[in-house]
Amino acid sequence: MRKKVIAGNWKMNKVRAEAEQFINDTKTNVPASDQVESVVCAPFPYLASLVEKAAGTDVEIAAQNMHFEDNGAFTGEVSPVMLKDIGVTYVVLGHSERREYFAETDETVNKKTHAAFNHGITPIVCVGETLEQREANETMTLVESQVKKALEGLTEDQVKQTIIAYEPIWAIGTGKTATSEQANEVCTHIRGVVEKAVSADAAQAVRIQYGGSVKPANVDELLSQSDIDGALVGGASLEADSFLKLVEAGAK
Ligand code: 13P
Repeated sequence: MRKKVIAGNWKMNKVRAEAEQFINDTKTNVPASDQVESVVCAPFPYLASLVEKAAGTDVEIAAQNMHFEDNGAFTGEVSPVMLKDIGVTYVVLGHSERREYFAETDETVNKKTHAAFNHGITPIVCVGETLEQREANETMTLVESQVKKALEGLTEDQVKQTIIAYEPIWAIGTGKTATSEQANEVCTHIRGVVEKAVSADAAQAVRIQYGGSVKPANVDELLSQSDIDGALVGGASLEADSFLKLVEAGAK
């Protein structure tokens, strides 16, 4: 039985007081971490303070991106060493917004995934198609290629610990959720890709989230699907009440 993981991706939202208030409001109310993993993906400036606020609770703090090098002349970048140093435990990699606006590629996602494991940070690797790609029937081949490239060179054990987030781009922030069948179909395909590329054991262990307009009203149905092990949530993760409903759904 794979443990569900509910991650709230705040993207570029909240100021410090709002971020800290959110952690205060959620940290004692999230279900215990043996039932579900509750992850908050916050902007860089607040990570250190949120890690301190969440210490000893069942809320984990994630970054939304990082560089793959440990240090060096990369102005404006944040390294895995820095994230580890302040106690960050998860990192979102290859989000479609980073692929689209910040030139993230399958190759950099792969380097970052390796870097995350080298520093004991759990990667949440995002994949997913545009509407045009879906309409051209390219979803399965595209997602297969993104997954294979992201995982290239990892050990079987590392693959087992990876979290893959399937986020169809047409469903992000649009209110258009993929139907649970559409979402599960692609998540099942991703598990098959992991089985072929790595092993049946890795495929059974790897956690696959769905993301794209997930909210309290649709999360139960999505999480009831055979291959959906959690959710990566934008808009509906910004309010503590809504985020708590999502993690409670993950704990059922
Ligand atoms: P929304 O939940 O706002 O559609 O965003 C999904 C997402 O991109 C999470 O990473």
